[in-house]
Amino acid sequence: MDFMLLILAVLSALHIMVPSVYYVFMKRIAEKKSWNLRLDENYEPTVTVIVATYNEANVIVGRLQNLEELNYPKDKLEIIIVDSASTDGTADIAKAYIKENSLSVRTLILEETQRKGKARALNYALQYASSEIIATSDADCRWVPDTIRNAIRYLSDPSVAAVSGQETLMNPDQSSATRTESQHRKLFNYIRVGESKIHSTIIFEGALAFFKKELLKRFDEPCDDSGSALNLVQEGYRTILIPDVSFLNPFSPKWNKKIAKKTRRAQHLVEIWYRCLVLDLKGKLKLNPWISRVNVFLHIVNPFLFLVFALTSVFLLVEYPAALLAIPLILLIPKARDSFLLYVTNYFFLLQAIFMQAFGRRQVVWKK
Ligand code: GDD
Ligand code: MN
Repeated sequence: MDFMLLILAVLSALHIMVPSVYYVFMKRIAEKKSWNLRLDENYEPTVTVIVATYNEANVIVGRLQNLEELNYPKDKLEIIIVDSASTDGTADIAKAYIKENSLSVRTLILEETQRKGKARALNYALQYASSEIIATSDADCRWVPDTIRNAIRYLSDPSVAAVSGQETLMNPDQSSATRTESQHRKLFNYIRVGESKIHSTIIFEGALAFFKKELLKRFDEPCDDSGSALNLVQEGYRTILIPDVSFLNPFSPKWNKKIAKKTRRAQHLVEIWYRCLVLDLKGKLKLNPWISRVNVFLHIVNPFLFLVFALTSVFLLVEYPAALLAIPLILLIPKARDSFLLYVTNYFFLLQAIFMQAFGRRQVVWKK
């Protein structure tokens, strides 16, 4: 019994310590380390922004207006909307908007006859993109005017193949679902920037990602953002997430919507770290092996240790009922309550994602 308890204690300690230490370490690096890049402030390549859409009738015009406001030479910019047979008229609305308003940026609307997923649509659009840099974005997010300029600077270094930016919520204080997501993003962003400063992060944001076209060749399917970043790292390049470029994203205040979205995103994370694990085992991984190993632990092993930790906690509560007093404390302090909720739900999303991946339920297309 004592031995059993010791094992539980060690596993529980690992469960808590690995993410905490990794976060503190990466935050320090994100704040203190330099980029080790040679940036050319005069670099001004041509850029194609591809926005994949499926049923985005409500937001597509706002997104086109937002892209028009970008502070970048209009003759060096091109926008491609690639729609996958939306049933709400997204493509027609976009076409009508372009016809009625003479846009200052060359804008192309492509229509697929069948919905085969976002990554497929991006690859279709790639054939029509004529620029040196390919950017991807979503219909529902917003960029600030200097986004391209700020991101492009980093691509002037020949070792950097791709650059991504940070997600900021449009509505961080709306509900517990958005508060916890906003808290999550803050922690997450430090880790991604820290990894990028060491060499690269492969966790990319499809809503704000810039790739050098001659290196990209094709988007990874179905992980168009992080999968493509991993492929570029495997080719020997750096792929980085930078702190000075962020995009605004709306986030549903409802937990049921959040669960669906977060489980899908978690599936992509599980898939990408599983790919790294396999490459690492074969001795072929070019990403810093420790970045990969810690993330494999965090995304694939630690969700199971979460179950161990939860069971241990229940066991301790039965043994020492006085500890039950901690519960009202957690529930009464709003910050502690949100942190607790974030912690529990994150592992729940990952566990669900792991089971869905294991039983072949990949989400190439998702409910809008
Ligand atoms: N053409 C096309 N075809 N576009 C699609 C499809 C499709 O089958 N499915 C989704 N999209 C578009 C949406 O219209 C939106 O513009 C963008 O892809 C992202 O989809 P959202 O539904 O807004 O998802 P999100 O907010 O969770 O997006 C994040 O996660 C995705 C991966 O799960 C972003 O980071 C995406 O870039 C990322 O692909
Ligand atoms: Mn979205």
